[in-house]
Amino acid sequence: MADKKARITVDGIDQTIELPVLTGTAGQDVIDVRTLGSHGVFTYDPGFMSTGSCESAITYIDGEAGVLLHRGYKIADLAENSDYLETCYLLLYGELPSSEQKAEFVETVKNHTMVSESMQKFLDGFRNDAHPMAIMVGLVGALSAFYQDHMDINDPKHREIAAFRLISKMPTLAAMCYKYSKGQPTMYPRNDLSYAENFLHMMFATPCEDYKVNPVFAKAMDRIFILHADHEQNASTSTVRLAGSSGANPFACIAAGFVTLWGPAHGGANEAVLTMLEEIGDESKIDEFIAKAKDKNDPFRLMGFGHRVYKNFDPRAKVMRETCDQVLAELGQSDDPMLKIAKRLEKIALEDPYFVERKLYPNVDFYSGIIMKAIGIPTSMFTVIFAMARTVGWISHWNEMISGSYKIGRPRQLYVGHTERDYPTKK
Ligand code: CMC
Repeated sequence: MADKKARITVDGIDQTIELPVLTGTAGQDVIDVRTLGSHGVFTYDPGFMSTGSCESAITYIDGEAGVLLHRGYKIADLAENSDYLETCYLLLYGELPSSEQKAEFVETVKNHTMVSESMQKFLDGFRNDAHPMAIMVGLVGALSAFYQDHMDINDPKHREIAAFRLISKMPTLAAMCYKYSKGQPTMYPRNDLSYAENFLHMMFATPCEDYKVNPVFAKAMDRIFILHADHEQNASTSTVRLAGSSGANPFACIAAGFVTLWGPAHGGANEAVLTMLEEIGDESKIDEFIAKAKDKNDPFRLMGFGHRVYKNFDPRAKVMRETCDQVLAELGQSDDPMLKIAKRLEKIALEDPYFVERKLYPNVDFYSGIIMKAIGIPTSMFTVIFAMARTVGWISHWNEMISGSYKIGRPRQLYVGHTERDYPTKK
C-alpha cells in the first residue's frame, strides 16, 4: 500500500502542506505534524485531545471497545493468571518471564526493599498530619539524594538498578508514611513475604504484634497493583516522560509523576469516591447527588465515573468489581451501607440517560476505594497506593524513552497577551 499522506491548506500559505500519516500495529493512524513548523504554522491542542506525544510499545488502550493490553496481553488475563511482579517484569522487559527469570526478578526486588536508615530522619521532619502524598513527593524525590551511585541515565544497567530500587522501595516508603501519620514505629520489610503481603505487614504489624495477612486481602491488594500498573500516556506518565526528556534523574522524574497523580481528576479520584460516599451517607440522598452531578451550574461530579479514554466499561473496573465482592464476602460486609450506596449509584449511572449518553461508566477507582476501605486502609493512603503500583509503568515509559531517540519536550502556545508596547515613562 502506498504511503498514506494528509494534505492541509492554510489561508495565507500558498502551497498545500503534505504530511506523512503513520500507522501503528493497532489503533488509529496519526498525522505526523513534525514538519509543520517549517511552514510557519503549528497545531493547537490543549489537553492533548488529538495529539500523540510519543511512539510506545508498552500499553494499548481502545477506549471505545473497553480494551486494555499490556505488551499485547489483556488486563483481565494478567489479573487472572499473573501476579504484580510478573506484570512488572512484562512491562519492563516486554515479555512474560520464564519461571527462572521470575525467581531471579523477585529475588532482586527483595534485595532492594530496605531504605537508607537516614530516610527515617528525613521523614521525621514532616508534620504528622501532612497528607501522605505530600510526604511521598518529598521522600521519592529525596531518593536521588540517597542513591547517587547508579544515576547515569545513558547506561542501561544504571537504569535497570533505578527501576529495581523504585519498585522495591515504594511499598516501604508508603508504609513508612502511614506509620508516621499514626505515630507508630516504622516496620521493616519482610522478604519471606510476597510483594502484597509484605506491604500489608509493613502497614498493619507493630513491633509488639504481628499481623496475620489474610490471603483474600493479599490477593485483592495484588490485583489493585496489577490493575494500576500502567495506563498508556496519561497525565502522570506524560509528566514523567516530559521531566525525563530534560535528562533529569529517574527518582526526580517519578516524584513528578506522584505530583501529577495526586490531582482529583487523576489518581486522587479513589479517595474522592470514598469522601463522596461518606457525604451521601444514606440511600435517601442519592437522588439529590445525582441531580447535582447533572446540573451544569454545579461543579460537582460523580467521583469514580467517566474516563478521558474509556467510553465503554473500564476493563479494570470489571475485575475490580469482582474482587470487591470477594473481599466484602470474606468480611461478611455485603450489607455495608456504603456498599449499598455504591451499588445504587452504579445502577443509576448505567441506566440514567445523562450518564448513558455521555458514556460515563464506573471506573477502576470506584471499586478500588471500597476494597481498600474494607481492608482497613485509610482513604488518605489510596492515592499513594495507586502511585506505588503505577511506579513500574512510569519507569517503563521513562526507560523506553531514554533508550530510544527523544527530544526535550517543549510544547508551543497560542499567544493571546499584549503585543510589544512602550514601557511607560516614570513620573
Ligand atoms: N459526573 C457528572 N458528569 C460528568 C462526569 C462525572 N463524573 N464526568 C464527565 N461528566 C460530563 C461533563 O460534565 C460533560 O458533560 P457535557 O458534555 O454536558 O458538558 C461530559 O460528561 C464530558 O466530560 P469531560 O469533562 O469533557 O470529559 P473528560 O474526558 O475531559 O473527563 C474525567 C474525564 C475522568 C476527568 C471526568 O469524567 C471526571 O471528572 N470524572 C470524575 C473523576 C474521576 O473519577 N476520575 C478518575 C479517572 S480514572 C483514573 C485514571 O485513569 O486516572
